[in-house]
Amino acid sequence: MDNINFPIKVAIVGAGIRGMHAYAPFSKMRPDLMEVIACVEPNPERLAKMGSDYSIPQELLFSSFDDFISAPLCADVAIIATQDKQHYSQAIPAMKKGYHILLEKPISPDPKECMEIAEVSRQTNRHCVVCHVLRFSNYYRLLKSFIDDGKIGDIMNIQYIEELGWYPYTQSYVRGDWRNSQVTSPLAIAKGCHDMDILLWLIGNKKPIALSSFGSLKYYTKENAPEGHALRCLDGCKAKADCIYDAEKMYMLSEPGAIERGEWPIKKLTSVLTRESVYDAIKTGLYGKCVYECDNDLVDNQIINIQFEAGITVSVTITAFTEGGTRLTRIFGSQGLLEGDAASGQIWLTPFGGERVCYSVDDFFPPTDDKEDRSSNNLLLDFLDMLASGVKPGNGLTAINVSLQGHIMAFASEHSRVNSGLLVNIEDYTNKLII
Ligand SMILES: NC(=O)c1ccc[n+]([C@@H]2O[C@H](COP(=O)([O-])OP(=O)(O)OC[C@H]3O[C@@H](n4cnc5c(N)ncnc54)[C@H](O)[C@@H]3O)[C@@H](O)[C@H]2O)c1
Repeated sequence: MDNINFPIKVAIVGAGIRGMHAYAPFSKMRPDLMEVIACVEPNPERLAKMGSDYSIPQELLFSSFDDFISAPLCADVAIIATQDKQHYSQAIPAMKKGYHILLEKPISPDPKECMEIAEVSRQTNRHCVVCHVLRFSNYYRLLKSFIDDGKIGDIMNIQYIEELGWYPYTQSYVRGDWRNSQVTSPLAIAKGCHDMDILLWLIGNKKPIALSSFGSLKYYTKENAPEGHALRCLDGCKAKADCIYDAEKMYMLSEPGAIERGEWPIKKLTSVLTRESVYDAIKTGLYGKCVYECDNDLVDNQIINIQFEAGITVSVTITAFTEGGTRLTRIFGSQGLLEGDAASGQIWLTPFGGERVCYSVDDFFPPTDDKEDRSSNNLLLDFLDMLASGVKPGNGLTAINVSLQGHIMAFASEHSRVNSGLLVNIEDYTNKLII
């Protein structure tokens, strides 16, 4: 493989929430490791901001991907952080051009495209690392270390609940960018690819045998709209006072300073960080629509039952109907129980015949003052280190071939769900994709 030295040169493709806010800032924290050298972004304001924030010369600011890909190779890495359906048409030419890729999840909303991306990574000998940030979070690292240290013996069964939270769910999957599976991905792919990936990792890459799934869009539909509602919250809705989804409450009453600081989700609504601009966005934009009157089709609840080799069984619940967002995991072992809550970073260990003890992730990985995204930073550290130390493509914690397995399980669960809970044999399903 080519010789790559620190600081590794990076082109950001898609300077949105992930590209601009989760990955690019790492170059300011660790300029010795990473340098943002180019940016591809059609939104002129974001492109200009990237130019000024990272001192990118004009000739390396591209408003179109075609211009970027036809220009000479300008970086070691392309971080592809565009929307789900764009990943395939950008990752393949970028690898063929010679870029190593850090690719946002999902690899693609189409299973065959996912396989092709993995194949092109192999053929071109380019790293294609998928941003399965959970594997790099300190909470999951701790949970995994408890399992690998044999604290609960062998895994027998897992109960896994992804609590999406009514606020983030309606923000992203009812009003927001991921509300329509025709435009982006079904929930089983958008969220489920992370869940399947982390389960595979925790279980220790045992082979999944079969699964079945049920789920529907049960609540965020016209039929459940309250009496007197309007199509938009600011258009005379008579149910506004009692509606928790009222856009004014959700976005204008954010904690003091949140608008000016552009905290999530405000930066999804507008790049101009003033109350007037947020008000205009809810008056006319997507985020001011009544949550019962959107063009959303993603499920708001789904269950997936999975059988792994060695008789391990797993049940997964993904639900919008919770107060906050977290992932709850109960891992039943031959010698004890592990229970974890990702949001609070707490893990409870109960060895059979012993006391239930609570561990906090902060005791193992002390928290930092700022609001830095530690999982994304850990992922970048690992990725850049792999490149600089000459690790061959195909290796690494979230190499494309590893991530592909979880994606295939996610696609299989969606296939089952739309076929009324059909039992899907994973090997048969995978073989049909290859043909
Ligand atoms: N790893 C994670 O945990 C995680 C979390 C959230 C989102 N994601 C994924 O990250 C990706 C980006 O999400 P986001 O929230 O940053 O979206 P976003 O919409 O904020 O950002 C996408 C950016 O791509 C730009 N863009 C559009 N067309 C382009 C083109 N042809 N070339 C270059 N840029 C183009 C858009 O203008 C926008 O700025 C999605 O695939 C999403 O599913 C991953």
